Amino acid sequence: MDSPLSHVLFFALFLFFLSSSPAPADAIASPLVRSVCKQTSDSFHQNYTECIKTLGSDARIQSSTSNIKDFTINVLEIAAETATDTQELFNSYLRMTESSTKAIQQCAQSYGSVASAFRGTLEGVKEDQDMVKYTVAQIADGIAVCKKALSSDGVELPHTISSRVNLVSLYKDIGFTLTSQLASIGLKGQKH
Ligand SMILES: *[C@@H]1O[C@H](CO)[C@@H](O)[C@H](O)[C@H]1NC(C)=O
Repeated sequence: MDSPLSHVLFFALFLFFLSSSPAPADAIASPLVRSVCKQTSDSFHQNYTECIKTLGSDARIQSSTSNIKDFTINVLEIAAETATDTQELFNSYLRMTESSTKAIQQCAQSYGSVASAFRGTLEGVKEDQDMVKYTVAQIADGIAVCKKALSSDGVELPHTISSRVNLVSLYKDIGFTLTSQLASIGLKGQKH
């Protein structure tokens, strides 16, 4: 949110919300976003409000909430971008820090795999493959490998990186919720 355009956009949205009746983020989210966030918070103990805020903050997601497949594709695209950003943050941190370089290096590598796994899942969803659940498991593995490396070295990440790590984890759980829903729709379709 650094470009002048995004400031203008933010201000326009701000005015819009001021002029409408007091609307919490939840009330303006689409039914699909609300149901996905409800399920994600029930199944994975993710923060519902954070989920609504995250999905509500991207125009690509906002424009695709009438079709679950398009919605999933857009969410996974943004998830892959977020994982790549996280990898880059780890790489820059690696250049700045003297300590625990091995754990940080491991995390940079892990988030590279996480980004690839999100892209693999995305391709799977586009092509209606039922292998999607395995690529989702790869995302979880990459996240876990980094977490383990950090905790065994006792690394405390700066907030900019840890908040990004949490965001990727939220996208993983949202991605899992969405791909499970798509899979169950696919199965129903095959029965009839
Ligand atoms: C959930 O997220 C909201 C918005 O980011 C925050 O205000 C709230 O404290 C969070 N709740 C918990 C239990 O972490």
